[in-house]
Amino acid sequence: DAGKGGYDHYMLKEIHEQPAALRQTLRGRADPATGDIDLEDFPAGTFADVDRVQFVACGTSYHAGLVGAQYLSAGGVPAQTFLASEYATGQPPVDDNTLVVGVTQSGETADTLSALRQANTSGATTLAVTNVVGSTAARECDDALFIRAGPEIGVAATKTFSSQVVSLALLAERLVRDVTGTRTDDTRERLGALADLPGHVQQILDYSSARRVAEEYRDSDAYFFIGRGSVRPVALEGALKFKEISYEHAEGFAAGELKHGPLALVTSETPVFAVFTGRNDEKTLGNVKEAEARGAPVVAVASDGQDAVHQYADEVLTIPDTHPDVAGVLANVQLQLVSYHAADLLERAIDKPRNLAKSVTVE
Ligand code: G6P
Repeated sequence: DAGKGGYDHYMLKEIHEQPAALRQTLRGRADPATGDIDLEDFPAGTFADVDRVQFVACGTSYHAGLVGAQYLSAGGVPAQTFLASEYATGQPPVDDNTLVVGVTQSGETADTLSALRQANTSGATTLAVTNVVGSTAARECDDALFIRAGPEIGVAATKTFSSQVVSLALLAERLVRDVTGTRTDDTRERLGALADLPGHVQQILDYSSARRVAEEYRDSDAYFFIGRGSVRPVALEGALKFKEISYEHAEGFAAGELKHGPLALVTSETPVFAVFTGRNDEKTLGNVKEAEARGAPVVAVASDGQDAVHQYADEVLTIPDTHPDVAGVLANVQLQLVSYHAADLLERAIDKPRNLAKSVTVE
């Protein structure tokens, strides 16, 4: 218990460690004033020969990988994300100019290591984005970028997701510049938003109404999470976290897909958590109205200024205003808190959920 630092669970402690973890992740690596990036072992030009990037990962790390591919694609670098366990089945094209990035907190996940070994055999350059110095992934890959989140004990990944996303944002800046020869248009704004993240996360931790929301919707039949674009991965992650530790049925969907099937499950007993970023919000709001028309309570995660969202949602978990590419990290913190409190109210074994392991070393 001493290691929990006064918190009831490691997970809650680690959620609260995010401002400090993010400061470590960012330390010395990005200067919003100049737009400069300094990624230690990866000076400018490191990735000049890369023509496409493939991310391989599992679980929460896969969701971070989905965000990473979006950052790259938006900057003009072709990128895809694969579930590591599926990577071999699809035989994705790989050549000497392919960079395969394994996103893995532990650096020991068997599926991810296997995909990285396959990529290596096929001639790709491999890079581990990991939290653990000296891990198998860090040793076996050609290079490693450390996310510097500090040790994570709770089985459900929390602070490491945030630090992974920020690390991938920085890596994407380096890659886009090296591959395309130009900076993304709004580099300084995005780096400024990253620099603001620790303070913004602290605001959420100080003022979140996640416990009240969890209390209000306990005993629901199921919990759905929707998001579009940069926050589709956050919707998937919100649902994964919720089911992992509460054992309640939770699913995440692309907001626009709700009407293509999942809507059949939506009732007054299935709260819908909808994530907004300040980009593409109108369409997601349309999806929210579809859910409400079936009687579903809607909990929005959105910034204060989004009046239309506030008008339609039953509850709003607010996040500070920021760049749309970075808003997902903040929204995810609110969803982490909802999952934690839902599981706590149900007295689940939050730090060691049944049937799950922190690091899965079998394929
Ligand atoms: C396990 C954990 C998840 C984690 C996944 C990938 O399933 O329970 O929380 O996201 O492994 O782990 P990694 O260490 O590769 O990020």
